[in-house]
Amino acid sequence: MSSNQKEDLIGKWSVEKLELLGKYLAAYLKILTNQSWCQGYEYIDAFAGTGKPKTRDEQKFVDGSPRIALNLSPSFTQYHFIEQTDWRVEKLQKLHKEFPSHSITIYHGDSNRILREQILPQMPYASKKRAIAFIDPFGMEFQWQTMENLAAIKTVEIVLNFPVMAINRGVLRKNPQMISESAKTRLEQFWGTVDWMVDLYEDEQTLFGPETVKRKLSGKEFGRVFKKRLEEIFPHCSNPVLMANSKNAPLYCLIFAGHNANGKKIAEQIFAKHEKDKQ
Ligand SMILES: C[S@@+](CC[C@H](N)C(=O)[O-])C[C@H]1O[C@@H](n2cnc3c(N)ncnc32)[C@H](O)[C@@H]1O
Repeated sequence: MSSNQKEDLIGKWSVEKLELLGKYLAAYLKILTNQSWCQGYEYIDAFAGTGKPKTRDEQKFVDGSPRIALNLSPSFTQYHFIEQTDWRVEKLQKLHKEFPSHSITIYHGDSNRILREQILPQMPYASKKRAIAFIDPFGMEFQWQTMENLAAIKTVEIVLNFPVMAINRGVLRKNPQMISESAKTRLEQFWGTVDWMVDLYEDEQTLFGPETVKRKLSGKEFGRVFKKRLEEIFPHCSNPVLMANSKNAPLYCLIFAGHNANGKKIAEQIFAKHEKDKQ
């Protein structure tokens, strides 16, 4: 199949995710464009995709996260799009022609490395720049070390798509001894500590004595556990908003984290309205 024929198919939950992202970015721009001290407000898409996924149900192309950010007015002063796969990068390149007046850089490779080596060094605190990073991996591709670097420079806030199902189904087992070493390593890099066992497992009394078993957490509770982790490095983290599939299985949680209390408040208002509208 040529790269032109390939596309990403997304479910309704991804469309909802994109709507929430768009609302938060619009609010972010409204606030930042009024700050005369600010020397640039930038958008980082750490897992950019193609820029135009197709809905699974209606087979309709919709704007992916890069286009959602690019279509906002006022615009960001700079756009950083990171994507690892060749064919998706090829599709992203079209954005230069489509948005000639926007300052767009497309990075081809691993977002951890590119953020640490190329993007974050451009926005130290003294630069008076601010950025919002959308972190939307399929699974556990984002490393805690990168999250720490990102939090430490204090100029970047994040909207994280926390991969509930990828961790729940892809790694965790009722009995932790059944988890493969490679899955443990991936989770450790994502969680940033071997303490994920403490966070996600508990001791249970059985006829044969105490046994360590997986905690029974709802999707949202799972998101809250990771929120606690984020609170160790970001002062303001929102409550998670859960995205579930058509069978109500928890897929992921969106969580805001940053250095600004107002950012958290706005994210929580947007998330709460979404939850209310869905009832
Ligand atoms: C969930 S999709 C992103 C969708 C996109 N944010 C949107 O809303 O339209 C995840 C993307 O991350 C890319 N990816 C996976 N691992 C990566 C890595 N380590 N660095 C950069 N991109 C990666 C995948 O190729 C895929 O396009």
